[in-house]
Amino acid sequence: MTEKKERPIGIFDSGVGGLTVAREVMRNIPGERIVYFGDTARVPYGNKSKETILRYSRQIVRFLQTQEVKAIVVACNTASAFALEEIRHELDVPIIGVVKPGAKTACETTKNNRIGVIGTKGTIASGLYTEFIRKIKPDAQVIGVACPLFVPLVEESMLKDPVTMEMARRYLSALKDRRIDTLILGCTHYPLLRAVIGEIMGADVTLVNPAYETARGLKKLLEEEELRSARPAKEGETGHRFFVSDAAESFRDFANSILPIDIEKAQKINIEEY
Ligand code: DGL
Repeated sequence: MTEKKERPIGIFDSGVGGLTVAREVMRNIPGERIVYFGDTARVPYGNKSKETILRYSRQIVRFLQTQEVKAIVVACNTASAFALEEIRHELDVPIIGVVKPGAKTACETTKNNRIGVIGTKGTIASGLYTEFIRKIKPDAQVIGVACPLFVPLVEESMLKDPVTMEMARRYLSALKDRRIDTLILGCTHYPLLRAVIGEIMGADVTLVNPAYETARGLKKLLEEEELRSARPAKEGETGHRFFVSDAAESFRDFANSILPIDIEKAQKINIEEY
């Protein structure tokens, strides 16, 4: 059996969005191997019920455990909001999500205590960002806006399309009027729309990508639990593995457009079996 600290890290999302977290893990924790699962057959998660997201997340976690992962990152805000706390108690490996790190960074960033959050309907309705922010800054004003069409636009690679620009204008107009100085990209798909969102919000609003802080949090966690790999980091690391529930080729192409490495393939599995 592989020594525990040389096992991979499991990362999952409803689709390609979690690759923004995988990218930060690759950049910030070199030497670690990743097993990524994108639930491309069942995306989007953002408009589904808590019960459904919990069932999906449990299946994915069971699959990741068959890959002998040493830790799990829920690289999906919706699953972090709906499933993380319950799943944490069912596991014997550490698990972290993206909401808490995102809330922490926003609190460190804001100067006027007015923070915007954009995310899926599920994430915004859960109120979890507001809860975490208020634990750190009880007097912060938090304004949440759900942007349900952003995920399909990203999944269709329409990152700079005029349709995306128009939708962003509509969704973000409510935030522009509220004098926020910090905006959390509270869905792992949204950092891929950073250019469009940044253009609309303007230079006075700092965009927070929770993925970066999540990768740092993961590194700290691995060190604390003595799970950090001792393997030397290699240029063009190929030890990562990618799994999806559908459309493996388009996932691979998308991954190759945003990751710092090229992946040869993503393997399709039947997640309902887990
Ligand atoms: N990328 C996910 C998130 O961060 C979910 C998007 C979706 O599947 O709706 O919330």
